[in-house]
Amino acid sequence: MVRSIRKKLIVGNWKMNLSVGQSSLLVHRLSKHIKGHRNIEVVLAPSLLALQPVSLEIDHRKFHLASQNAHSHDEGAYTGEVSFTMLRGLVQYGIVGHSERRMYFNESLDVVRDKVAAAVRNDIVPILCVGETHTERVAGETKQVLHDQIVTALQQLSADEVADTVIAYEPVWAISTFGGQVAKPADIKEAVKYIRFQVEELYGKAVAEHIRVLYGGSVDENVAGAYLDIAGIDGLLVGGASLNYHKFSAIVDRACRMVHSD
Ligand code: PGA
Repeated sequence: MVRSIRKKLIVGNWKMNLSVGQSSLLVHRLSKHIKGHRNIEVVLAPSLLALQPVSLEIDHRKFHLASQNAHSHDEGAYTGEVSFTMLRGLVQYGIVGHSERRMYFNESLDVVRDKVAAAVRNDIVPILCVGETHTERVAGETKQVLHDQIVTALQQLSADEVADTVIAYEPVWAISTFGGQVAKPADIKEAVKYIRFQVEELYGKAVAEHIRVLYGGSVDENVAGAYLDIAGIDGLLVGGASLNYHKFSAIVDRACRMVHSD
């Protein structure tokens, strides 16, 4: 596997936190603490409302932006929604299929698939979140769940488009707000291996080696190194800890040091 071609990616998902003013303050602090690094991409996902002001404030060589969600249609009578077409040019990435969206907003496999396609259609790289619940894990259904989520979500993409997609493995039971159990590196390694195997089955070896796979679930500055060290992991999707500039910059710093020592 050619690890070096896959640039490490650290994503901060701020979820429904921080006002526009608080978002600016966090960006200001992160800018001071995080140094640009050509082998690491740092992506921030503020609320929809804060995206535009944050975009005007960041050094775009240091930070990229992601949306946390968007609608699958490009325009139309969908009151209250924002489309990937509207986000085009503002964000480089779009988080799709986060477990909170799947659970609280009933996003089905098909809805996630349509959103992935909409992101790609609008030149936004999807960060597709996949992962099993605790019940599914206990029932031994982890691989089946990952299979179904991946196969459906990528259905409308060409192999080249899949190659540029990012998949985040986020076991639901490990996400801080859903219980925050600590995932063992061996379990993550197995899941990531299965994700690449699945992509290889569908789109071939070159695509499977190109696609970036992240881990997410209660990542903080203390465990980031161990997770980044797992074979096949290309970065982290950070929730709670990304709201704290000390913690998030320490995670980025950790990734930078690991890239240097590669
Ligand atoms: P957490 O969230 O780091 O707070 O567990 C991760 C996520 O939901 O993406």
